[in-house]
Amino acid sequence: MSDEPRIPSLDVGLRRVRELDRGAPLPPSDPELVAKIIDEIRAEGPMTFARFMELALYDPEHGYYVAGTAGPGREGDFLTAPEGHPIFGWTIARRLEQTWTGLDRPSRFVVREHGAGTGARAHGILDGLRRSGSDLLGAIRYQAVEASPARLAALRERLVGDGLDAWLEPADDSPAPGAVIANELLDALPVHRVEGASDGSLLELFVTLGEDGAFEWVRGEPSTDDLAARLDAEGVQLQPGQVAEIGLAIDDWVRAAVAGLEAGLLLVIDYGHPAKELYSPQRGSLLRTYHRHRVHDDPFVAVGRQDLTAHVDLTAVERAAAAAGLTALPPTTQGRFLAELGLGELLVALQTDGRTDLAGYLEARAAVARMLDPRATGGFAVLQLERGR
Ligand SMILES: C[S@@+](CC[C@H](N)C(=O)[O-])C[C@H]1O[C@@H](n2cnc3c(N)ncnc32)[C@H](O)[C@@H]1O
Repeated sequence: MSDEPRIPSLDVGLRRVRELDRGAPLPPSDPELVAKIIDEIRAEGPMTFARFMELALYDPEHGYYVAGTAGPGREGDFLTAPEGHPIFGWTIARRLEQTWTGLDRPSRFVVREHGAGTGARAHGILDGLRRSGSDLLGAIRYQAVEASPARLAALRERLVGDGLDAWLEPADDSPAPGAVIANELLDALPVHRVEGASDGSLLELFVTLGEDGAFEWVRGEPSTDDLAARLDAEGVQLQPGQVAEIGLAIDDWVRAAVAGLEAGLLLVIDYGHPAKELYSPQRGSLLRTYHRHRVHDDPFVAVGRQDLTAHVDLTAVERAAAAAGLTALPPTTQGRFLAELGLGELLVALQTDGRTDLAGYLEARAAVARMLDPRATGGFAVLQLERGR
């Protein structure tokens, strides 16, 4: 995605959407969700994009992720690495074993997966430990933290279906050694949208209603000083007219997610860049929308029916983790991370396993190729942040 042509300004971005739209019919917006957003704008004035994104994705009745229309998998809107094949989870299980061993094998080791979705990774991890007969099975407790009750129910069903639910327990934040993991979660947290002003200051892009009643952007003074403070802290200055997204929600998420992590690992896998790169004028806005594996960049269409994401500011994640007392290992890519953990070895073992048929092996091999390919999810960033005992 990062290889796509940059979108130098809002207007050019919108033109590009229309071009991309040709041949890719989008469903109509959810009318009740749109009415709800319009009511809020009429009552309170222009809305931050972070609030718009929060409603579009997580409105309790109509949000994309909550209403049960969100679709991972081949028929859905996006395909994450864990959804590709359980071998992803088998490999992550090896990293969890390393952390557990490094902590002297505590008798209770709590894995909290945030944004666990429909359970592909939970299933892969527990299945991987079971396949390898790992001693960690005697200590691991798996907690799924998921914004969507429907997805949480699907996760449970998936684990029950394979006899893996015995390791599942309700999510809490009581102190325990373990790991906090998040795959493609941070890109789904609401972001503010800003633009560099000609005098070097910052403007915010708000969502308002045009004369025809449709959503449109309006520039204004930032809704909070935290936006400029974030960029200042990162030594970033936007060029006049440069549009960018700022994920303020990262700070609260990191703080809360590691609050119960007595010792162990915070593992974040996502698409993103260090701040200097993310906000370089060449890159432009990295707000994207997904519907049926097609990428667009207009959040005002198919509202509640398409996924909205923004590339993650990795510097912000590392700073928030440092503030919470965690130490960062050198960042890496998903491809290198999985290869070093022995993904290739696991694929060979699958091939030589008498229970694997040719179709199953070929499917796994294709999924592994995508997980390692730097132009696919292999290029995603992996942040490993540790808290010692
Ligand atoms: C793109 S999906 C990724 C799902 C899964 N991690 C995977 O890789 O297949 C993002 C998930 O995060 C969930 N989510 C978003 N914000 C969340 C939050 N603050 N806490 C917990 N889950 C959240 C969404 O409901 C959705 O299931």
